[in-house]
Amino acid sequence: MQQVIYSNDINNTLEGLIANGDFNRVFVLTDTNTARVALPLLDLDGIIPITIPAGEENKNLDTVQAVWQALIDGGGTRQSLLVNLGGGMVTDLGGFAAATFKRGIRFVNCPTTLLCAVDAAVGGKTGIDHGGLKNEIGVFAEASHVIVSACFFATLPEAELRSGFAEVLKHAMLSSTDSFKTLLHTNIGNLSPNQWLDLLRQSIPVKQGIVAQDPTEQGLRRVLNLGHTVGHAFESLALQRGKPVPHGYAVAWGLVTETVLSRLEAGFDGMLLNDLALMVRDSFGSFNIT
Ligand code: GLY
Repeated sequence: MQQVIYSNDINNTLEGLIANGDFNRVFVLTDTNTARVALPLLDLDGIIPITIPAGEENKNLDTVQAVWQALIDGGGTRQSLLVNLGGGMVTDLGGFAAATFKRGIRFVNCPTTLLCAVDAAVGGKTGIDHGGLKNEIGVFAEASHVIVSACFFATLPEAELRSGFAEVLKHAMLSSTDSFKTLLHTNIGNLSPNQWLDLLRQSIPVKQGIVAQDPTEQGLRRVLNLGHTVGHAFESLALQRGKPVPHGYAVAWGLVTETVLSRLEAGFDGMLLNDLALMVRDSFGSFNIT
């Protein structure tokens, strides 16, 4: 069972995990962005860095092969640990590389973005893109631990934080009217690292609870696609028109659209829908690709 640790003291937390794990080598996977902004925050002896090029266009088999080779060159064995330090591209690809290297080595996810902390790093989906399709090749394999740390969020552009917040909002809609109402009035620009951790302590268990009931997405886990079905249509259209939008923004607009459908089909509370639409308009703007 995957353990999620909430800590803004990333060094002590990782050090404790490594000390308890009896590993012969500890590799840290970053992309070129997190090698610059997140890796310098780690103060650990003896770790072997592996850096891959940043960007979704590099989430492919060539990059996985480069990671496998780096593990071999660094003397990696079944007793080695891979720490994935980055956003969703790093945790997806690193998880896949670890799950397939020597039939599987242990790995830990250290998400550096809110979006990754609340979604990609948790729940065991790993993989790469192939043939123009996202996450076409992959396996379900859980990181033994996910270290959720808001100490990395200070390096994020505000649009990136907002993008992750859409997923936090989604979890609240799936679980608790009270949390949802609170989030509608939360100003994410003012949150301290400890307040972020408090918020994530409420949000991430929603996903964990759903994944525990349906780890390989046979049915229930699809509720995590709330906002995404319509959101992906917004994303694709924007991309087609040469004006890409951040994933979380498309999800936020998708949440509003799907909640309108829910109002029409299932009587979703009209006042709450109104509050959601106003909050999304004020925080994410409107979908406008003209
Ligand atoms: N990102 C949705 C899931 O992990 O199922």
